[in-house]
Amino acid sequence: MATTMTPAPAPARTDQSSDQAADELIPNDLVREAVPSPAGPAEAQDMDLPEPPRVPLPRGVQVMHMNWRQIEFMFRWRRRLGDVFRANAIVAGGPTVTSHPEHVKSLFTANPDIAPSLTAESPLLPIVGPGSVLTANGPRHLRQRRLLLPPFHGEAIERYTRMISEATEREIERWPVGTPFALAPRTQSITLDVIMSGILGVEGKPQRGTPEYGLRAAVKYLAAASTLPLYQLAELLNLGHEEPVGIQKRGIQILDKYTYGVIKARRQVTDLEDRTDILSLIMRARTEDGEPLTDRELRDELLTLILAGFETTANSMAWTWERLTRTPEAYDRLRDAVRSDDHADEHIEAAIVEAMRVRPVIPAIGRRVTVPWRLGDYTVPAGTPVIMSILLVHHREDLYPEPFAYRPERWLGRKPGTYEWIPFGGGTRRCLGATLAMAEQRVVMDAMVRRLDLEAADPAPEHVNHRNVTMIPKRGARVIVRSRH
Ligand code: HEM
Repeated sequence: MATTMTPAPAPARTDQSSDQAADELIPNDLVREAVPSPAGPAEAQDMDLPEPPRVPLPRGVQVMHMNWRQIEFMFRWRRRLGDVFRANAIVAGGPTVTSHPEHVKSLFTANPDIAPSLTAESPLLPIVGPGSVLTANGPRHLRQRRLLLPPFHGEAIERYTRMISEATEREIERWPVGTPFALAPRTQSITLDVIMSGILGVEGKPQRGTPEYGLRAAVKYLAAASTLPLYQLAELLNLGHEEPVGIQKRGIQILDKYTYGVIKARRQVTDLEDRTDILSLIMRARTEDGEPLTDRELRDELLTLILAGFETTANSMAWTWERLTRTPEAYDRLRDAVRSDDHADEHIEAAIVEAMRVRPVIPAIGRRVTVPWRLGDYTVPAGTPVIMSILLVHHREDLYPEPFAYRPERWLGRKPGTYEWIPFGGGTRRCLGATLAMAEQRVVMDAMVRRLDLEAADPAPEHVNHRNVTMIPKRGARVIVRSRH
């Protein structure tokens, strides 16, 4: 990937973290501030501003290009048209794409009534259904979020650390030495165990013959199947549908069989009140009218949490290793710091944060503005879908000098900015599992850095595969374990 953007001179940031690390790890000028660009619900004087420039290609060409080569599409049109441009792909209504942190801030901090999420219109809708926290908008969304926030809160997640560590040790132990293998399926095995355990209350791997075992196997099978080109076509066919069609329908039927099996079995237990897992919690919850969630609502919520949670986190870790093994100086520095316990946590955090910057697993998120909205030099009309390109924000040269370089040291002594580093989105739709995902990545990274010496199976960087709303390493981050400690 290459870009012709020129870096704008900007002052070094001063909002450095106040913890002990900041005293010893002095922030550098590898993270800066973006040039100002006002944004928000349009005021009277903003109504005279023009609409953003359009990508001058037929819709069909844009849809194909965006779906298969999103990175190229985004970088090319930003280079030609600037920070804000209008595309005609994926979501109905000709989305406007932006990559400015002030525009992002205006959308994250807006009342959700005037900037509802686009996930209700995303390709995820036929999979997780309309009843999930991900696809709902308005009061229903807030109610579900309130219900699910406590079990994903920091203190609750701390309780999972030991379980994550055990799942990691079990998995790492089985990795071959000296033979290339793809990391993503292996990290998926860890994240699937973690999510199944947190959501369903299963300790370790589920027992063969239980509905939980069937569900785990079905999720794994579908994750593998969805890498096939045929499946990508099926995704396109499903766009705009509330229920799945074609081969995706068959896949969902398999998932449903086991998900409803899990729900049915859980309805029969006698100790529901005492259980601390997330399924039991949402089964005990009541709506304002005192009604419990229906099986369909429980199914939508369960599948959302499982599907949103395990592949994203697993691929994020895979990307971190894909980058680290291609940036030996960064890997060496990390290994030295961790193995000598010299600010190990800060170095691990920096390696993860920087990987999530250069390879955000979800490259774009969106809101549909219900009132005219100013985005810098332009105003878009009410009803416009606005896509925030996480990928483009993370590669702004004014924010991140040498944006394409993997340089974890950017983050030593500094925390990422709320609107400048957005792999988990933000505002009232911020990823519900962000704390869990970060905890998992820290524990797994720590164990892998301490115990293994890894190399890339092939020194060339891995290409990107776009799957559903995610961006994952094409070959699953193929590595070779050279030695185990
Ligand atoms: C590295 C891993 C992950 C990444 C990169 C990621 C990224 C995201 C992003 C970008 C969004 C949309 C935010 C927005 O529109 O502002 C999101 C939403 C969501 N994520 Fe994650 N996620 C990850 C892991 C997880 C995990 C582990 C879970 C749960 C177990 C989870 C559950 C959810 C849910 C339920 C939502 C919808 C929240 C809402 O709409 O209110 N995610 N995630």
